Amino acid sequence: MAIEIIGTGKAVPPRRVTNDDLARTLDTGDEWIRSHTGIGARHIADERTACSDLALEAAKEALTGGDGREEAALEAAKTLDIIVLATATADYYGCPSTACVVQEKLGARQAAAMDVTAGCTGFIYALETAAGLLAISKTRKRALVIGSELLSRVANWEDRSTCVLFGDGAGAVVIEKTEAPQEGPGRRGLLRTILGADGSGAEHLIIRRGGTRNPFKAGETLELPVHLEMNGQAVYNFAVKAFTDTCTRLMEEDGLGIDDISLIIPHQANARIVQAAGKRLGIPEEKFFLNIEEYANTSSASIPIALDELNRGGRLKRGDLILTIAFGGGLTYGGNLILW
Ligand code: ACO
Repeated sequence: MAIEIIGTGKAVPPRRVTNDDLARTLDTGDEWIRSHTGIGARHIADERTACSDLALEAAKEALTGGDGREEAALEAAKTLDIIVLATATADYYGCPSTACVVQEKLGARQAAAMDVTAGCTGFIYALETAAGLLAISKTRKRALVIGSELLSRVANWEDRSTCVLFGDGAGAVVIEKTEAPQEGPGRRGLLRTILGADGSGAEHLIIRRGGTRNPFKAGETLELPVHLEMNGQAVYNFAVKAFTDTCTRLMEEDGLGIDDISLIIPHQANARIVQAAGKRLGIPEEKFFLNIEEYANTSSASIPIALDELNRGGRLKRGDLILTIAFGGGLTYGGNLILW
């Protein structure tokens, strides 16, 4: 039995905000943002758009190969057994899950649906959750895995040290349980996954308001902070170590060297994190796929967006070995070894 990715999709809002656009209202500039992060622009959703809207768009693409036919997507959705959606910026706080909103909009009536919260590692966690739910079942065959985020809604637009980093977007994959082997000759699909967490770093990336620890009180207005706070230096240090450790373990546990790997798809948080990890590992820059310049950090959406760009751009060939590596709020980290 193998778990294979059979479709990819993405959705980004049409409104593109460049560094120069931000510099009109914020004490920042293109030179600082590019040199410290590699970011050139981000896409920001309009007020009417919620997490599930981007998720739905990406899901439809993943279900149909992007042919744009609504009926084909809805027809394909009927074959789904599970929907797992990773997000830190859900439509609603707590209940219902955004996955349930997407399930209803897709008409995927036979699919179970749930959200996963693991910060920017969310997609890796969601993929492993969905794969596990397929693997242990005799009847479930196909799952939709989505990462969708509207980080613009939780960014503090007056804090230049955080807001310049984030963007909105969604990415999705359809995975299927197939007869191909997972080990040995002819193996395919999702070969190996690492998941990890270090809750001692919870405070380094945190939205303090609105939960049961610090609920809204009667009379409060939403102008009070509901923002994402970040200890940039602590996250940076954690990220570089988590990145190098996960990359090394994924290769070592499978007896692989860097020459066996076609491409590494990192979470697009900061190009400098990728460069620092690459340097430590002695991996040349061209092994890493980066699209952070266009989308900034879209948290759990960044890896499935990258997968879709590569897939649609014809850059993933059957037999390619791919590493995905992510790290983020929680703190969490993880990665996959995938044979395309
Ligand atoms: N424009 C101009 N100047 C700025 C900006 C900005 N947008 N932001 C900060 N500065 C200034 C600071 O005020 C500071 O000025 P000072 O020296 O006069 O005090 C100076 O730049 C340096 O600030 P630092 O915070 O030390 O900058 P640093 O080089 O550490 O870079 C950064 C900051 C980019 C946030 C870095 O710490 C980082 O990348 N951390 C990891 C962040 C990350 O990856 N987060 C997401 C991961 S998890 C997830 O994806 C949700």
